Amino acid sequence: MCLLVRRKALCLIVLPFIPASNLFFPVGFVVAERVLYVPSMGFCILVAHGWKRLSSKNMLRKLSWICLSVVLFTHALKTLHRNWDWESEYTLFMSALKVNKNNAKLWNNVGHALENEKNFERALRFFIQATHVQPDDIGAHMNVGRTYKNLNKTKEAEESYMIAKSLMPQIIPGKKYAARVAPNHLNVYINLANLIRTNESRLEEADQLYRQAISMRPDFKQAYISRGELLLKMNKPLKAKEAYLRALELDQTNADLWYNLAIVFIELKDPTEALKNFNRALELNPKHKLALFNSALLMQESGDARVRPEAKQRLLNYVKEEPQDANGYFNLDFEGANSFASPGRAVELLP
Ligand SMILES: *[C@@H]1O[C@H](CO)[C@@H](O)[C@H](O)[C@H]1NC(C)=O
Ligand SMILES: *[C@@H]1O[C@H](CO)[C@@H](O)[C@H](O)[C@H]1NC(C)=O
Repeated sequence: MCLLVRRKALCLIVLPFIPASNLFFPVGFVVAERVLYVPSMGFCILVAHGWKRLSSKNMLRKLSWICLSVVLFTHALKTLHRNWDWESEYTLFMSALKVNKNNAKLWNNVGHALENEKNFERALRFFIQATHVQPDDIGAHMNVGRTYKNLNKTKEAEESYMIAKSLMPQIIPGKKYAARVAPNHLNVYINLANLIRTNESRLEEADQLYRQAISMRPDFKQAYISRGELLLKMNKPLKAKEAYLRALELDQTNADLWYNLAIVFIELKDPTEALKNFNRALELNPKHKLALFNSALLMQESGDARVRPEAKQRLLNYVKEEPQDANGYFNLDFEGANSFASPGRAVELLP
């Protein structure tokens, strides 16, 4: 009987822990008290069992109570103390760093917690430490790059992204990468390109990066979206159109994509197609501010009296969404005036 209880308790401690023990396959987490909940039940059974055996002997009864009190007291203290660690993400990962300083994930997670509080200087120190303990951690270098960018240190940001990029699997023509490349690591190309393209003389270089990301993962929607923006900026609306159409093949339900495609058609001087695409954006999101505003302007400019009430309605909706924007009221007031009276169209591409 006794043996059975002990065995059961031991099983309860050991078996549920095996899958999380890292022994047979790597598990993706570093601090996980949750994997000890069930094993701790086994531990409690063992303690109860031991106490029962001790206290059944007359001589040891007093001692058994003392032992039990000590166990309960120390564990209660430890729980109380541990509660402070769980106060926030920052305190939790800091407490984990006290026991394990060689895990990049922990340094990164403390960095993320600080980043969420917009404490970029301190976050940077933790991200940099993550790259020191694990120099091949692509995510850590990306974190450093992003934080430098948030601190307006463009040059350092670029250097970090370059390191992250150099750690990516190298391109071999005609080979598929989807299986090997984590999607969030592909963001290296996007982030680096977004950084580089702020310099007007490096647009071509940025485009190269988007294309590289696309070649590594042909279903990488964000790459098409960013590339479309860039191509429009480079005055290549036809190529931009192609990029947006590819992105729309991957996701038809994104109102911003239809909106951006409409802007391309404005650049291509095709107001009819532009309006069609604005309308698709509005079907998906009737409160899409820029689509409301720009499509209303387009309707007004068409000079077609039949669409004037709809244009007015859209401007009214726009003003409801964006009461601070004087342009909305301006165009309402000048409704019916010829198109020369309208202020510059807010051609703004969405990320
Ligand atoms: C970086 O520059 C932007 C715009 O120039 C500014 O709004 C922001 O406050 C700056 N950030 C830092 C940390 O200096
Ligand atoms: C932009 O890029 C060019 C060529 O790489 C470089 O010479 C120039 O210093 C850069 N400008 C800025 C503002 O970074």
